[in-house]
This record gives sequence, C-alpha cells and structure tokens, in this order.
Amino acid sequence: MDSIVVTGNGTLSGEIPIAGAKNACLTLMPATLLSEDPLTLTNAPRLSDIRTMTELLRSLGAEVQSLQDGQVLALSSHDLNNLTADYDIVRKMRASILVLGPMLARAGKAVVSLPGGCAIGARPVDLHLKALEAMGAELELRDGYVHAKAPSGGLKGAVVEFPFVSVGATENALMAATLARGTTVLKNAAREPEIVDLAQCLQKMGARISGEGTSEITIEGVDRLGGATHRVVTDRIELGTYMLAPAICGGDVTCLGGRIDLLAAFCEKLDAAGISVEETAKGLRVTRGNGRVRAVDVTTDPYPGFPTDLQAQMMALLCTAEGTSVLEEKIFENRFMHAPELMRMGAQIDVQGGHATVTGVEKLRGAPVMATDLRASVSLILAGLAAEGETVVSRVYHLDRGYEHVVRKLSGVGAKIERIKGA
Ligand code: EPZ
Repeated sequence: MDSIVVTGNGTLSGEIPIAGAKNACLTLMPATLLSEDPLTLTNAPRLSDIRTMTELLRSLGAEVQSLQDGQVLALSSHDLNNLTADYDIVRKMRASILVLGPMLARAGKAVVSLPGGCAIGARPVDLHLKALEAMGAELELRDGYVHAKAPSGGLKGAVVEFPFVSVGATENALMAATLARGTTVLKNAAREPEIVDLAQCLQKMGARISGEGTSEITIEGVDRLGGATHRVVTDRIELGTYMLAPAICGGDVTCLGGRIDLLAAFCEKLDAAGISVEETAKGLRVTRGNGRVRAVDVTTDPYPGFPTDLQAQMMALLCTAEGTSVLEEKIFENRFMHAPELMRMGAQIDVQGGHATVTGVEKLRGAPVMATDLRASVSLILAGLAAEGETVVSRVYHLDRGYEHVVRKLSGVGAKIERIKGA
C-alpha cells in the first residue's frame, strides 16, 4: 500500500485547481438509468469512486465512456440487461445504493445489495427504502439484497416526509419521482449543492422539479426523460480542504473556481479563526498573516450548516490554534478516528462521544500515522504540512477515493510532499 510523506516546509503560495464534486458525480451518473438517451457529464473528477460507479453501471448494461483523461463521462443506458447490483461492487462504495431509485423507476424492478456499513458508521438505508415504498414500491430484504418491484403501472407520486435530513435518500427519491405517475413532494429534503446540481441535470433531461435547494422539493412525474449534457458542480469539500492548507501553514493561496456560497458556514468559521477569505474572479483567495489562529467551536449540520466532510480537516487546523475548541459531530456516530492519529503528532484532543475538545499547541511534530477513512486521511496530510519534521501517512488508498492529484496540487504551492509506492 502506498504512503505519502509530508515535511513541514514553511508558508504556501500560488493556485490550486479544484475539481468537479465527487458527491455530485456519484448521483449524476446513476441518473443515466432514467433515460434511453445519452447523458454527458463534463468537469468530472478522476477518482477511484467514479471508477467504481462506472464498473457498477457497466455491470447493469449501461455504456460509460471516459473521455479527455476522465474529465468527460459519456453515459448511455439504452439497454439495461441486468437489474442486479452485486455485493462485490456495492460493498466497495455505499453510494452504489443510488442506482436503486432510477432502476426501479425506469425498469419497474431492481435487486441491489445492501451497502453495509463503513468506518464512520453503520449508515443504514432505511430512509431510501421508506421513500420508495411510499411511491408504491414493494421491497423485500433477502440474503443481503433489496428486492424491489414497482406496481404494474409504475411508481406513483407521494408525499415523503423524511424524519431527518439524508442526502442519499433525497437523491434516490428525487430520481425515482421524475418518472412516477403524479406529483411527489419531498419534505425535510437535503439542501446540499449536490442536490441542486442533480435537479438541474434532471431538468435538462426533461424532469419537472421545483424547490431544489430548499427543504421541500416538488416533482411532477413525466412519461420519459431524454438525454443531456451537464457540467458537474465544483467540489466544495475539496475546496474547503485546500483552503485549510494556507490556513494551517500561513501564506497566500487561491483555490481556482471556488465560490463562497458553496461553503458559507465553513468560511464564517475560518473568519472567526482569523483566516482571511476573499472571493476573486479566479476563485477563493485564502491568506493568513503571522501568529496563531484563534480557537473556534464547530458543530456539523446538514447544509447550509458546517459540513461533516470538513470536520476532520478543521480539527487539523484547530490543533495549533490559540485556545480550546470544541467540535461536535452530529451527522455520523464515529467520525473522530483522525483524533488519535493527530495525537501521535502531539495534538491535545479529548474525545467524549460526539464531542472532541481540542487544546491548541504551538506546533505539531511529524510522525508515522495511519489513514482510516477518506476525510481523515487528508486531515493528517494537512497537519503534516505545518508540523516539525516528517509525517508518513499510510493507507492512502482512502485518499484516492476523493482527492485527485493531491501531491501535485500541494507541491504546486510549495508543500514538501511525495507519494511512496508501497509493496
Ligand atoms: C452523503 O452520504 C455523502 N456521500 C457523505 O460524504 C456525506 O458525509 C453525507 O452525505 C452527509 O453530508 C455521498 O454523497 C456519496 P446521509 P449519505 O444519508 O447520503 C443516517 C464523503 O466523505 N441515515 O445524509 O450516505 C446516516 O447513517 C462522504 O464524501 C440513516 O440512518 O449521508 C448518517 O448518520 C462521507 N438512514 C445520517 O443519516 C438512511 O436511510 C446522514 O446520512 C440514510 C442515512
């Protein structure tokens, strides 16, 4: 397994390009199952999760061509010859469950392996299933698979009230509702920019959707959807991750294509910590003067709140802040696995259930650390950028799921970082 070696190397300066959003692309790709016509996605990120979704869609009979070095995906599911999403693919990536709604809506039948949990939590899919049942689907859980059947006349519109916000359940229900007979209203729907991006792509395909980006989305079902070409929205989590590099090291870095509206709550916290964020024509310019950042408290919430996917990275910044910060993780039950690894670097963190109390220290010290999940892996790299000495992050396959060209992007602004091929 490969590892990444980072050595604290002073301040950073320059520009970092930000890719298309992994979490938008992973729901835009299954949307091809809703139509017989071609769907082209541009600004697609080059990530292992995208390759896994490609493998899954191909196993169902869809065509997926990766063009222009992976930045353009040409999809078409004219002939769906297999309606079973196998465990050996689904277990690699829980977003695979997002083929369930579209397949059921298009073909009236779907057999999808339950995704199983992952490092950050059990991550059940009960809200996905309840939404589809409300639209008339008959579901049976057997041998670790969801066996789903739509009524003979197809899914029907329904009012679906989610007991709490779920990004994936909103996406599955939204896609299924585009071909249901009648009107569907999704209440307490997720408001993430990735949901808005999906809705805009579906609208280009002919779907009749309103309210996307609010907590109530209304969908008027149509008989069929056509093709479309759609540009994947900027990845706000990659954006926030790289904004933290100059925040942690000091310096002046512009994240190209960044927009404040994608990350308002996160930018407010950076401002409170003493980091300057300026929206320019090129993107978001982040600068930090001398002196330590200020401690801030952070609570993760569904959008437009502070994103759970930036909690680990923010903790890396707060490890060397002046004062004590409390981070509250409200979305996932086990998302502090980066804390013990940061403590190996000298951080002072006390984790009690969903709260982590971070007492800032002057400087972290480089150490061998282990990546445990996607966002934890990059928080360790961020910590290593400003630590004294060398940090070796092992198990960086986690990183490849959500960050393309990390070494190139960070060394491009002056970081001392390299990837070591593992056995
Ligand atoms: C999406 O996951 C993202 N993944 C996650 O990003 C992100 O952390 C999460 O949304 C929250 O923003 C993709 O978009 C591919 P949820 P998702 O359904 O849809 C519970 C990353 O690092 N829940 O909003 O799975 C669930 O266990 C990844 O890029 C149920 O109980 O998240 C969690 O505690 C990590 N039953 C909470 O709700 C359900 O049916 C929010 O989950 C569904 C979810």
